[in-house]
Amino acid sequence: MNMNSPLINRQIRLASRPHGAPVPSNWLHTEEALPELKDGEIRVRNLYLSIDPATRGWMNGGKSYIRPVEINEVMRAGGVGQIIATRSPRFAVGDYVAGSTGVQEYWQGAADHPYGGFQRIDTNVAALPSYLNALGMPGMTAYFGLLEVGLPKAGETVVVSGAAGAVGQTVGQVARQKGCRVVGIAGGADKCRFVVEELGFDACIDYKNTSVKEGLKQHCPQGIDIYFDNVGGEILDTVLTHINLKARIIICGAISQYNNTAPVQGPANYLALLVKRARMEGIVVFDYLNRYPEAVQQIGEWMKEGKFHTREDIIEGLDQFPTALNMLFEGKNFGKLVLKL
Ligand SMILES: NC(=O)c1ccc[n+]([C@@H]2O[C@H](COP(=O)([O-])OP(=O)(O)OC[C@H]3O[C@@H](n4cnc5c(N)ncnc54)[C@H](OP(=O)(O)O)[C@@H]3O)[C@@H](O)[C@H]2O)c1
Repeated sequence: MNMNSPLINRQIRLASRPHGAPVPSNWLHTEEALPELKDGEIRVRNLYLSIDPATRGWMNGGKSYIRPVEINEVMRAGGVGQIIATRSPRFAVGDYVAGSTGVQEYWQGAADHPYGGFQRIDTNVAALPSYLNALGMPGMTAYFGLLEVGLPKAGETVVVSGAAGAVGQTVGQVARQKGCRVVGIAGGADKCRFVVEELGFDACIDYKNTSVKEGLKQHCPQGIDIYFDNVGGEILDTVLTHINLKARIIICGAISQYNNTAPVQGPANYLALLVKRARMEGIVVFDYLNRYPEAVQQIGEWMKEGKFHTREDIIEGLDQFPTALNMLFEGKNFGKLVLKL
């Protein structure tokens, strides 16, 4: 290879906004030569990209907690990578970093880029994909959502949906560390076995093959004090019928609704909040950006002590991004879904 020829960056851009589930024509595969580095800039070779349900929301136009991705823009995604060139004193070649990489092979720009700026990560604490899972955005969501919004107390019963997924895995394990009884809800016997046998949940309800209502009666004999909702829809409605006085419902996501072409289905049983003087509150992980190090340190310690486990589902190849994204909405991922480049 001619060392003077520019590096070619392969990228996936948003071509059009989906109606329902994303289809191949929503994506544009492009190639671009990287310009020379300017003063203060870094070049990151992206190694793993995070595949997130939120991506589906960022593909829509309209107002949300973050601006939508524009048509023809490189798709937004978190990732981890390695610095391969630097003109910033903040980073050295070889450093491993995590940040908002986008769906592309390289990220290049100012080292102190204001949004999603890169942070150095320590590969002695955990392997790179963990920094997109428990030590990354999903883990931070789970940790702060549960502890700051849910306010768990030892002995309380916590129910979490999407239990085998990225956020769910961490919610359940943090709740166990706090002395709570933890009941997961997940799709399929294998996922349920995993959360009980490998993550240490007290029980798990297979919502695809058994009744959630009966499962909650059986596994939450003292009622539900905290529900960490990742899925919305019917499961949220059913859980509301089993909450305790002063229960806390953490609205983290509603993946069952993201591909809807009809309006979002709200909880018909919301009057349970009145009867039980309960609280339902949303969480957006970015509100806790300046506290991430606190959570990374705590979860990292639990990992080192062997008290905390994670599972990633790794798919290979940038071009697999559209297929991988759709896996989330069909429950085809088993653990945090990550794209290896
Ligand atoms: N608020 C925030 O700041 C924030 C941050 C990160 C994530 N989130 C939200 O957290 C939730 C989980 O995200 P994640 O990254 O951890 O994803 P994930 O749980 O690793 O993957 C998605 C899982 O959702 C389940 N699912 C898909 N369609 C479903 C349906 N119709 N009904 C019930 N379950 C369904 C599937 O599991 P099963 O096989 O068990 O069905 C699938 O594996 C999402 O709603 C996401 O938007 C919010």
